[in-house]
Amino acid sequence: MRQLTNKRILLGVTGSVAAYKAGELIRELRRAGAEVRVVLTRSAAEFVTPLTFQALSGHPVNAELLDAETEAGMGHIELARWADCILVAPASADFLARLAQGRADDLLTAVCLARGVPLAVTPAMNQKMWANAATQANLDAMRGRGVLIFGPDSGEQACGETGPGRMLEVPAITEAVSELFTTGSLQGRTVLVTAGPTREVIDPVRFLANHSSGKMGFSIAEAAQEAGARVILVSGPVNLPTPDRVERIDVISAEQMLAEVQERVVSADILVAAAAVADYRPVQVATEKIRKTHDRLQLELVRNPDILREVKRAHPRLFCLGFAAETEDLHAHARAKLIDKGIEMIAANRVGAAAEDAEGVFGSDTNALSLLWGEDCVELPLAPKAKLARQLIASLAQRFDDWSKRTNGRGDNIVTLPGNRN
Ligand SMILES: Cc1cc2nc3c(=O)[nH]c(=O)nc-3n(C[C@H](O)[C@H](O)[C@H](O)COP(=O)(O)O)c2cc1C
Repeated sequence: MRQLTNKRILLGVTGSVAAYKAGELIRELRRAGAEVRVVLTRSAAEFVTPLTFQALSGHPVNAELLDAETEAGMGHIELARWADCILVAPASADFLARLAQGRADDLLTAVCLARGVPLAVTPAMNQKMWANAATQANLDAMRGRGVLIFGPDSGEQACGETGPGRMLEVPAITEAVSELFTTGSLQGRTVLVTAGPTREVIDPVRFLANHSSGKMGFSIAEAAQEAGARVILVSGPVNLPTPDRVERIDVISAEQMLAEVQERVVSADILVAAAAVADYRPVQVATEKIRKTHDRLQLELVRNPDILREVKRAHPRLFCLGFAAETEDLHAHARAKLIDKGIEMIAANRVGAAAEDAEGVFGSDTNALSLLWGEDCVELPLAPKAKLARQLIASLAQRFDDWSKRTNGRGDNIVTLPGNRN
């Protein structure tokens, strides 16, 4: 079965006799790793109880648009923002008609209208309702607007008739949903991603490190894999599971990270340097634990290698995306880094000067980034890191394509080339 790890799926359930199957669908989506929130139409709540879906999804079920309490919590706009994709299963003929008209007079249609993510519907209805020209015209209108239609199946129906209109079976719906996250934009490419902090050893029990959690780098590795790339992830010490089908190499120090990257980058087309590599390491590593015998202790540090700079210098034809965490003048500092390191793209994020603020940004599940290349820039507003990573990979794939065409894969004149704005 395909994986849906960390994907946020908003499941709309409408008033069809197939609504009972949505319970099994929630379980299957969650088994594949997805987080599921449910929106019921009023009619659906006549077929199935919100309590069942609350228990199966692990979240309160949303049903009303004009409900002050719900809107104060996760209202229709927040629900649309939360989701990575909206799936309506089963989708009734009436719901399809409302969707085709662009109505927003109940919660589910309002969320669908406010979405910025893929929408898929799995129709379920009597075969004559399905064949009706009105239903087919509604479906055509929606296809024209990029709505995905999964199914229906053909066969025996609840009403006793036989024909097309049965809702797709649950495993087929789950498979189709996971396909939504496979873009193919980096098909055939190899992407090397660095992630996490590095640890610079002081003595057998102490080290220098930073707040990086590795979440952003791991999300990027996952998004690159979903986009069809072979992904090699070189990670510092983090407490994260390896994304599915990603080759992971664990390292501790900056020097180890450089060595692993140098060894593996020869087969890569793209390097995404998301690791927070320590700038300095102790000149000497004490072989025994340093005792607290003095009031003051001086630790002499030496500069660590700049991994991105060294690798780019050795492999000018490698497409490189770096990261810049800045406390002020975000764009100016990031652009200076872009030019100074001779790389193709940079992702900049603002971090607070206070240590606890920095910890918040690094450890958080959300982030916002400015993506800069050439003279151009695109803002990726605050979003879960998994969603942000997919947007970043989509933009990177586009830039990489432009760059490959313009430089004929030679990687010449990269820094001065303007890209296209999204
Ligand atoms: C017992 C029963 C079963 C129904 N099954 C379906 C169905 O499978 N598909 C469908 O499109 N409508 C079906 N309907 C009609 C819808 O429930 C009705 O059009 C309703 O307004 C849909 O509301 P909603 O789209 O807001 O959920 C059924 C109605 C009843 C009474």
